[in-house]
Amino acid sequence: MAVLMIVVGGSASRDLAKDLAGLLDCKYIQAATTRFPDGECYTRIDEEQMDDDVIIVQNTYPDGNLVEMFLLQDAVHRLGARSVTLVIPYFGYARQDRVFKAGEPESAKVMCKHLDPDCDRVITVDIHKEVVLDNFTHPHRDLKAAPVIAAYFKDKGIDLVLSPDIGAAGRAKTVGEAMGVPYDRLQKTRLSGTDVRIAPAAMDCRGKHVLIVDDMISTGGTIIAATQALKEAGAAGVSVACTHGVFVNNALERFAGSSLDALLSCNTLENAVSHISVAGIIADAVRDAQAGKW
Ligand code: R5P
Repeated sequence: MAVLMIVVGGSASRDLAKDLAGLLDCKYIQAATTRFPDGECYTRIDEEQMDDDVIIVQNTYPDGNLVEMFLLQDAVHRLGARSVTLVIPYFGYARQDRVFKAGEPESAKVMCKHLDPDCDRVITVDIHKEVVLDNFTHPHRDLKAAPVIAAYFKDKGIDLVLSPDIGAAGRAKTVGEAMGVPYDRLQKTRLSGTDVRIAPAAMDCRGKHVLIVDDMISTGGTIIAATQALKEAGAAGVSVACTHGVFVNNALERFAGSSLDALLSCNTLENAVSHISVAGIIADAVRDAQAGKW
């Protein structure tokens, strides 16, 4: 008998969950999530039972969405799920992946420890440090958005792909190679939580249309400084693509008056510019899991 799959969409990842169910040609259930008057999370899956392979799609950021994930995990287990795959497009707390100063928690590990008991498999997308996932005791896979970003910009007249720092240099290489254009990296020095200094690329940017790629945009400080440095270096155009558009403190508005030609993010976090879909790469990973490949 064929094993059935059901995709459950949490409130943080509705559109992506629906797209995933469409690609997998399986049933989609939207969790009915609301808030109690005191702000606590209430959620319910409107099913009598679910003896299928269940895929929960839900970001664990900000904190309220993490709590919703815990509740959904419990709910699907109580309904009898045969297996539970967590798809966490944007994994909260991944950046505190170690103790930087004595007295701090290892936050990313704490999250894994608490998500681990009620799941059988974990899928993330461009998690800040992949090693964080080794804290799960179950099979896990971090998917790379670089190929879908490259496909999106392939015919958009990009001459050069740059990363803002050495940390994202591998991403710029993957995107550049997939697009068949050169790649390089800028040099970033972080001055504060919101401000950074960017040193120019070794490669000549004059007259070129540059695509900057990064794993996430948070305050926008990195991208604003990089765009300014590239314009000063004579770039004809600057476009930006990130996997996770976190855009804290209305960062999207900071870009409204900037000289960017295009700003795009993947749909790991749903926002006004999240037009690059990672549903296809998640569907491939789920199919591989179903086929016993991981
Ligand atoms: C840093 O390691 C990340 O790759 C991003 O460059 C950074 O988180 C972006 O932050 P912001 O938008 O606040 O400059």
